[in-house]
Amino acid sequence: MSTIETPVTTEVGSYFISNYPPFSQWKSDYVPAALSALDTNPAETANTPLGLYIHIPFCRKRCKFCYFRVYTNQNAKAIEDYVRALIQEVELISQRSAIGTRDLLFVYFGGGTPSYLSSKQLRSLRERMSEFITWERAKEVTFECEPGTLSVEKLETLKDIGITRISLGVESFNDQILEENGRAHLSPEIFRAYDWIRNIGFPQVNIDLIAGMVGETDENWHRNIDKALEMMPDNITIYQMELPFNTVYSKEMREQGTQSPVADWPTKRRWVNEAMERLMAAGYHISSGNELVRNPDKDQFVYRDNVWRGCDLLGTGVSSFGHFHGVHYQNLDRIEDYMDTVNRGELPINRAMQPTRHQLLIRELVLLMKEGQVSLDRLSRKYGVDVVAEFAEPFRNQQKAGYLTLEGTELKLTRKGLLQVDSLLTEYFEPQHRAVRYT
Ligand SMILES: C[S@@+](CC[C@H](N)C(=O)[O-])C[C@H]1O[C@@H](n2cnc3c(N)ncnc32)[C@H](O)[C@@H]1O
Repeated sequence: MSTIETPVTTEVGSYFISNYPPFSQWKSDYVPAALSALDTNPAETANTPLGLYIHIPFCRKRCKFCYFRVYTNQNAKAIEDYVRALIQEVELISQRSAIGTRDLLFVYFGGGTPSYLSSKQLRSLRERMSEFITWERAKEVTFECEPGTLSVEKLETLKDIGITRISLGVESFNDQILEENGRAHLSPEIFRAYDWIRNIGFPQVNIDLIAGMVGETDENWHRNIDKALEMMPDNITIYQMELPFNTVYSKEMREQGTQSPVADWPTKRRWVNEAMERLMAAGYHISSGNELVRNPDKDQFVYRDNVWRGCDLLGTGVSSFGHFHGVHYQNLDRIEDYMDTVNRGELPINRAMQPTRHQLLIRELVLLMKEGQVSLDRLSRKYGVDVVAEFAEPFRNQQKAGYLTLEGTELKLTRKGLLQVDSLLTEYFEPQHRAVRYT
């Protein structure tokens, strides 16, 4: 979708861009390329930063806006079987020659709800995984938590197993809104969990909020920001609510022909803008179109900074995405298939893509635009292309429309541009990728 076609109402469809070429273009034909990338001579990959993503697909409840691969109502045995498969997958990966003895720079536990695992399961996961791969020397180990799944004991376990960054899915502080949107927790659980997190002490704490939860109002949104400020987390992430195809709300809209229950895009952007203003007045700094940090020197997000710049990422667990030595890949996205394949001793890669150098350049450029500023000089040197000339047309169009400025080789998004950056990025895509479905 080009800049001009951005719809005003929040219709069903994907908005957030996290990779390129679009996931819909990844194919099973490329799986052998992903496998051979994992067999590269370790000397060739030794200087590339390496991260590990671990997907935990379980939740207490499915949020009505959730579009991730998650399973609810799973018993302890199902979870233990999954954790066993994860460890087996890590073992299989560690046997590929390209991994060699490379250290992990970062680890990210995402979901679903990683904090759905019990302390016992977490300790055993860490212990058994460390036979094959260790995050002892990693700079950052992030763990996503749903407030209602935490306890003092579980947080102590997280600290013991080396978690450095807690990411708490707050979304809203309003109980009625939390309930309407199908969240598993209510506001008292947020405050309780946050106090425990601070008392136990983690180097970094992030909270997630969503602008545009169903039922949101101006007044309540401003109250949300006040409450977030009272907590003073190191990092505040604000997503704009989107309705990809597989959410409960999207299904209701399609089947019942109802109107979107979510505020329109201009309202969501205004809310994010107001939040940015209020948070900046209190000392926060913008670190991307979605994130604000208290202390830019200390509050780095190693995962984002490296993934967006094209590091190697081992994606493990059902439906995970990874990238290795120039090849994108994604795991099987049904838990039964994932487990069967791993249990047979095979890597569970389902589809992959080997982008051209030009496509990797587009990927890095568009992801860095989400940070609000890009030194095109560095990109030109890295890819051996004059990036200013290569993308002269979209730069010119978007500068004219007030979304960015380009001085020499320094690209800066204006506030207006940053607030809707994802909608600007398709203009940089190759023509054959502009009109295709994203996921
Ligand atoms: C993968 S989810 C995991 C959240 C975790 N299970 C929890 O309960 O806190 C990570 C974040 O994505 C964001 N998110 C999920 N669905 C979204 C949607 N439809 N639109 C915008 N943001 C969304 C939420 O802020 C959420 O905290």
